[in-house]
Amino acid sequence: MSPVDELVKPLLATAWLGHAWRHLLTCASTNDEAAAWARAGAPHGAVVVADAQERGRGRLGRRWHSPAGESLYFSVVLRPALEPARVPPVTLAAGVAVAETLESHGAAPSLKWPNDVLAGGKKIAGILAEMASVKDRVEHLVVGIGVNLNALEFPVELAAIATSLRRERGGRPVERAAFAAALCARLEHWYQRFVDGGAPVVAAGWRRRAAFLGARVRVTAGRDALTGVAEALDDEGALLLRLDDGRLERVIAGELGPPAPAS
Ligand code: BTN
Repeated sequence: MSPVDELVKPLLATAWLGHAWRHLLTCASTNDEAAAWARAGAPHGAVVVADAQERGRGRLGRRWHSPAGESLYFSVVLRPALEPARVPPVTLAAGVAVAETLESHGAAPSLKWPNDVLAGGKKIAGILAEMASVKDRVEHLVVGIGVNLNALEFPVELAAIATSLRRERGGRPVERAAFAAALCARLEHWYQRFVDGGAPVVAAGWRRRAAFLGARVRVTAGRDALTGVAEALDDEGALLLRLDDGRLERVIAGELGPPAPAS
């Protein structure tokens, strides 16, 4: 088992999350490193952090901008004793944990279904959960979290849609080790709340910071798209979308965006 990162260790106030820790200068993706470590026996709560990622991944096959030293690239191995179908709300729990950590560091985040974290309407953090399961059993779950901490500039294609914690707090730099330790504490708290209270407890925490609820949106899932009003998040984390014909559609996965302009 690796020792906890020497900078994080004195700040870590968790019972189990982050007690096994790998800090890499660079890697393809911390999610891949965490999954490989999980297959080799990493304990529940093991964390991988890298200074840079060469092939950082986002949802839907997108690339996650991962330059050296500017941000947090963090993956945690979890081993929930749950059927695979019951696991998805863990991602919502991670979203709430990230939002609370950002709040405690001076930002005012909101959550965009299913698991984007925004500040000032721009993306400040993203979550990519990847599960390995056999039949009805979860082998491991890797929850990967990317938080834009200290970037002041973004590549041109991200400039209009991305922000960083440093930008959100008037240019004041962020101490990555302190942020990582605080994130571990909030993640442990919300994971435990999920285990003890189930998905409804997590969904309630998520709704308090929800962006877009009540707004007209377009939800895309593969080649399908639905437009309607994002009415609510149900207790399992699905989006309830009021379609134009009045029907209520329950959407369990997809991408939320503004409705297409009327032609
Ligand atoms: C998204 O919003 O699309 C999810 C982004 C998740 C990025 C993080 S960075 C740490 C971990 N490693 C990866 O390759 N991806 C996640």
